[in-house]
Amino acid sequence: MTTHGSPDYRDSGLEFPDDFLLGSATASYQIEGAVAEDGRGPSIWDTFSHTPGSVVMGDTGDIADDHYHRLDEDLDMMKGLGLEAYRFSIAWPRIVPTGFGAINQAGIDFYSRLVDGLIARGIKPIATLYHWDLPQPLEDAGGWPNRDTAYRFAEYAAVIGQALGDRVETWTTLNEPWCSAYLGYGSGVHAPGRTNGADALAAVHHLNLAHGLALTELRKVVTNDPDFSVTLNLHVVRPGADNAGDAVRRIDALANRAFTGPMLRGEYPADLLADTVGITDWAFVLPGDLEAINQSIDVLGVNYYSTATVRPWDGVSPKQSADGHGRSVGSPWPGSEDVEFIAQSGPYTEMGWNIAPDGLEDLLVSLHEQFPAQPLMVTENGAAFPDVLEDGQVRDADRIDYLRRHFTAAHRAMERGVDLRGYQVWSLMDNFEWAYGYTKRFGIVYVDYETLERTVKDSGRWYAELVRTHRIPA
Ligand code: FCB
Repeated sequence: MTTHGSPDYRDSGLEFPDDFLLGSATASYQIEGAVAEDGRGPSIWDTFSHTPGSVVMGDTGDIADDHYHRLDEDLDMMKGLGLEAYRFSIAWPRIVPTGFGAINQAGIDFYSRLVDGLIARGIKPIATLYHWDLPQPLEDAGGWPNRDTAYRFAEYAAVIGQALGDRVETWTTLNEPWCSAYLGYGSGVHAPGRTNGADALAAVHHLNLAHGLALTELRKVVTNDPDFSVTLNLHVVRPGADNAGDAVRRIDALANRAFTGPMLRGEYPADLLADTVGITDWAFVLPGDLEAINQSIDVLGVNYYSTATVRPWDGVSPKQSADGHGRSVGSPWPGSEDVEFIAQSGPYTEMGWNIAPDGLEDLLVSLHEQFPAQPLMVTENGAAFPDVLEDGQVRDADRIDYLRRHFTAAHRAMERGVDLRGYQVWSLMDNFEWAYGYTKRFGIVYVDYETLERTVKDSGRWYAELVRTHRIPA
């Protein structure tokens, strides 16, 4: 429904408001390294990445970008890019190494230095409490399908909230609980690599509960009036056939409304419960849970990369599963195994994800229509491309084009009335891309994994100009 601008979303000059927060994002396990230092305990990603066959090339986060030891250099790099905000995550096993009980002051000190370093450079800290690095002992005790994990998370939130609750600008409870639940416990392509649909749905609920309980704890201890948020990877689901209406509805329920329902409306969608009745009776939802989960948040974080197209599977033809989440033993779509994710038209990023900026516009507008009073922020958007470092330069015109088109999409959504508060580009620097290891580069800064040297890519310079001018550069 675009009325003006370039038909392919390649606009320039579009201006964002002064208070529109422009920054970049990372996550602890993807960049920090130093996995056994200063008292950090093992997480499920340490275990998983060290399990042969789990990650491409056997890559692990043992060293990653060595950010833990290069904090000041990386802070200076952010300042050099002019970032207004930095979205990072806190490694739970640095703060509470065994998941419960003893607190590790050295871990708290690291994030305290990070937050102080950001503030000293005029960069707003956006802290995520959980970007997938569950302390291994909690997985050993049952992981996210076990209700206790939600209580342990709330305790950890109270500890870190107490320590940093005078300085953090935005607290995000969870990053993409969809991935934690369905990729971790359903398809098994992410840690801990379990493949059980009932476990995945129990994990969904306990992640939702963890979000609610953590917000309650954070609100008790913070002293600086921060924003509270959660980041979801909502799926933009397109119909791939005339009779695809029910497939779209089912996937929307599992992927999106399983989280927005309890968090923002205080209920699980009736159709989700009905669709999954053969897998679980949802008896793990206890009285009071929905009230605990359903709390107002200041901003809803939206991660967007591409779209999905579905239709009913005829049960005969080879089933397509182009959902962008990798090949797997188990299904990340419990109860919807008769839905087929069909190949979408390109162009594609190096992840094989289709480039579809209209999907971001549609997603933001749809969220605004569903939750009109809810401010939004793009907390991740970016792309992997096969970058080459040559003569000290990375000429990543493809990434600039991707970002230009998605910033245009965000701008169009704002023109259509969406209350969008900011945009955090994924990622500040190349890093450990989960099951793909170091084979996929998302950074606006290149990392040489031999020397760990950082080089700002062309996209980094382009983005720095966008941040400086608040306009999409030519
Ligand atoms: C998101 C994750 C982030 C990164 C990007 C590419 O799902 O939140 O850590 O891996 O995808």
